[in-house]
Order: sequence, then C-alpha cells, then structure tokens
Amino acid sequence: QTGHTTLDYGFVNTAATKSAITYIDGDEGILRYRGYPIEQLATNSTYLEVAWLLLYGELPTADQLGAFDERIRRHTLLHEDLKRFFSSLPHTAHPMSVLSSATAALSTYYEGQSDPNNPEHVELNTIRLLAKLPVIAAYAHKKSVGQAFLYPDNSLSFVDNFLRLNFGVMSEQYEINPVMSRALERLLILHEDHEQNASTSTVRLVGSTGANQFSSISAGINALYGPLHGGANEAVLDMLARIRDSGESVQRFVERVKNKEDGVKLMGFGHRVYKNYDPRAKLVKESADEVLTELGVHDPLLDLAKELEDIALNDDYFRERRLYPNVDFYTGVIYKAMGFPTRMFTVLFAIGRLPGWLAHWREMQNDPQTKIGRPQQLYTGSPRRDYPGV
Ligand code: SDX
Repeated sequence: QTGHTTLDYGFVNTAATKSAITYIDGDEGILRYRGYPIEQLATNSTYLEVAWLLLYGELPTADQLGAFDERIRRHTLLHEDLKRFFSSLPHTAHPMSVLSSATAALSTYYEGQSDPNNPEHVELNTIRLLAKLPVIAAYAHKKSVGQAFLYPDNSLSFVDNFLRLNFGVMSEQYEINPVMSRALERLLILHEDHEQNASTSTVRLVGSTGANQFSSISAGINALYGPLHGGANEAVLDMLARIRDSGESVQRFVERVKNKEDGVKLMGFGHRVYKNYDPRAKLVKESADEVLTELGVHDPLLDLAKELEDIALNDDYFRERRLYPNVDFYTGVIYKAMGFPTRMFTVLFAIGRLPGWLAHWREMQNDPQTKIGRPQQLYTGSPRRDYPGV
C-alpha cells in the first residue's frame, strides 16, 4: 500500500515522493483518496467534503463541513482593484493564462499574511484560494465572452455559485439546473487529486523553496495548461471537431495516429501511470450519456468519441502500448453540453485539482524530510576542455 520508495527510470534511480494522500494502482485501474475508492466518493460525496478529506486526512463531521463551507462562502469576494486586473488583458486571452496570472496577482493583496511557516496564514490562504479561484475562473470565462462579471451569491452552494457566476447575467434571475449542478460536482470530485502528476509535482517543487500558496498554485496552473496534461481535455474536443469537419473517417484518423503522421496523437488516450482503463474515465463515460440526455443535448461528437474508443481498444497498436482513455477523453463533451467554451475546460480541471494541490503543498511543508526540490541529474555533456588560447 505504501508503494515503492525508489523508481528506476532506466538510468537514474530517483527517490519517489512519499505521500499519504492518494493511492493509484495503474495496472488495476485503482484510485483512492485517503483510502476511499473514487467510485464511492464521486457518487456519494461533495467537492468540499472531499476537499476537507484531502486536506485533513479524514471525512469531516457535519459541523466541520458546515463551518468550512461557511468560511469559504465568506471569502468569495475579490478586492475591487483585482477586478480591474482583468481589463488589462486582451479579450482573446486564454482563460488558463488569465487564471494563472490572476492567482499570482492575488498574492499581492496578502503580503505579510502568507508565511508558509505560520499555520494561521496557511489555513486562511487555503480558504481564500478555494473561495476565490472559482470566481477568478468565472471572470476569465465572462471576459472571454464579453459579458459583465457578477458578484458571488453566498446563499448558493459552492457549485451552484460557480455555475451562476459563469452562466448568470445581470438582467435575469439565474435558474440552477440540478442536472448540471450534480454533474459538475461529480466531475470536480473526479479531478481533486491524482498523486504526483506534473502539476502537483510542480506545486510541491515550487512550495519546497518557501514560496507561498498563491505562487505555488499559480505554477501548478501553468503546468496543467500543457496539452499533454490538463490541456488534453480541450485538445480532445479540438481533435473530435477536426475529424468531424474534415470528413475524414475515424479509421483513417486512427491510421494516421498509428503512423505517427505529423506527430498526431489520440488525445485523451494514454497515461503515465494507468496502463488500464482510467477509473475516472469510466465514471465520466457512464455519466456522459445520462447528463446529455437530461440536458436534452445530442452531440455527434460523443458518438464520434465512442467510435474512436471502440476502434482503438480493438487495435493491437493501442493494446500493445496499453493505451486506454484517460480522464480527459469524455469530460469535454459534458462541459460542452453544459455550455462551457472549449477553452474553459482546463480551467475546470484546475478548479477540480485545487484541493489536491493545496493538500500536497501542506504535506510537503509539514514533512521534516522536505528540502528544496532539486531533481538528480546524470551529466551527458562534454568532458573538461580549455578555452581557445588558454
Ligand atoms: C492527465 O499524471 C497524471 O496523473 C495526469 C492526469 C491527472 O489527473 O493529473 O491523469 C491528467 O494529464 C491525463 C493525460 C492527458 N494527456 C493526454 O491525453 C495527451 C495524449 N497522451 C499522451 O501524450 C501520453 O499518453 C501521455 C503523455 C499521457 C503519457 O505518455 P507515456 O506514458 O509516457 O507514453 P509514451 O509517451 O512513452 O508513449 C509510449 C508509446 C509511444 O509509441 P512508441 O514510441 O512506443 O511507438 O505510446 C505512444 C507513444 O507514441 N502513445 C500514443 C499516445 N500516448 C502514447 N500514441 C498515440 N496517442 C496517444 N495518446
């Protein structure tokens, strides 16, 4: 259960990070947060309850969860000056760039209250980030569609407040859609943590230098942005739309992937750890049909995704390389059905992953073994030589 202490990458033994937060078995397709199976949490829990579990190691009591929820509601407002920050960026700015830069900017309002060694500062800034990042994310969305920002409505739940900030408009009362609310809650839970993935490792590495939570989380957002990581959910929808619009058959596309033509990849497939079906992808796929039906949306891209999966799973190229759908393969179709623009998909991944990043940042800070992160190197460059004429 504790996993390996060292991993052999073929030429350099790298001591693995020890963590008690999330357990993954890549061969068996197992994912557990603090020992609880992801399938049970996604079906029965809430984003904030799971956030508490990741942060503190146990499920909260009803009173603890109530107080946690209340504290977060009371920290959703952004400083009015920060709202003007958004107007300094072009309306074409990618929401992930807006999110990472506004998160870094957030720290400028809390200088003197961001000491990583001060437990009160750490608690308060955990609440601030959980409360304010969804607001920043929604403002990035509103900016990209040229609509006015709304103020948070703290009478709403975390997810409903987030939906209203994204889809509500000044001129109308926003009606919460319970199907969207439950589907988004479930998707956020599925993204809350995933062990030592690239963005979480980035948060830990940046935090190990003594950088505060805001700077560490902003770095994690930038790492997540890449299309090989969190950016894949956006890349999947772009890939499906390109296949649809090109008129190319799915089989022909798969042949191009197998021939590695122009470096094309089957986005949303493959994983550094899962060499079996990503348990999250299974849960997302199961709910995709249900959510689209309940939202009254028929999206041919979902049918296209299923056809792609079916062909790939029955093809030796993918089987030999143990390539299966990962969490990003089906999520975008659901986000699209909810009304999110494609460029918001990775922002939604970031909001989901935030509690895991914060939990890992704390775990690293509280680990007496923690030293400033400095990965080992095997030097492969030139031997010693002299400067000409020396
Ligand atoms: C996330 O780490 C995490 O936990 C991440 C994440 C999280 O929750 O934080 O799970 C979220 O990032 C999921 C991954 C999202 N990315 C994508 O869907 C992008 C497409 N996937 C690939 O880029 C790739 O699968 C990776 C980067 C995800 C994993 O790469 P690996 O395990 O290092 O595999 P590899 O690059 O060594 O490839 C092995 C072989 C190669 O072929 P050969 O050289 O042996 O002939 O498989 C091929 C690769 O070309 N391959 C693919 C492929 N992924 C690997 N071929 C086509 N399409 C793909 N998607």
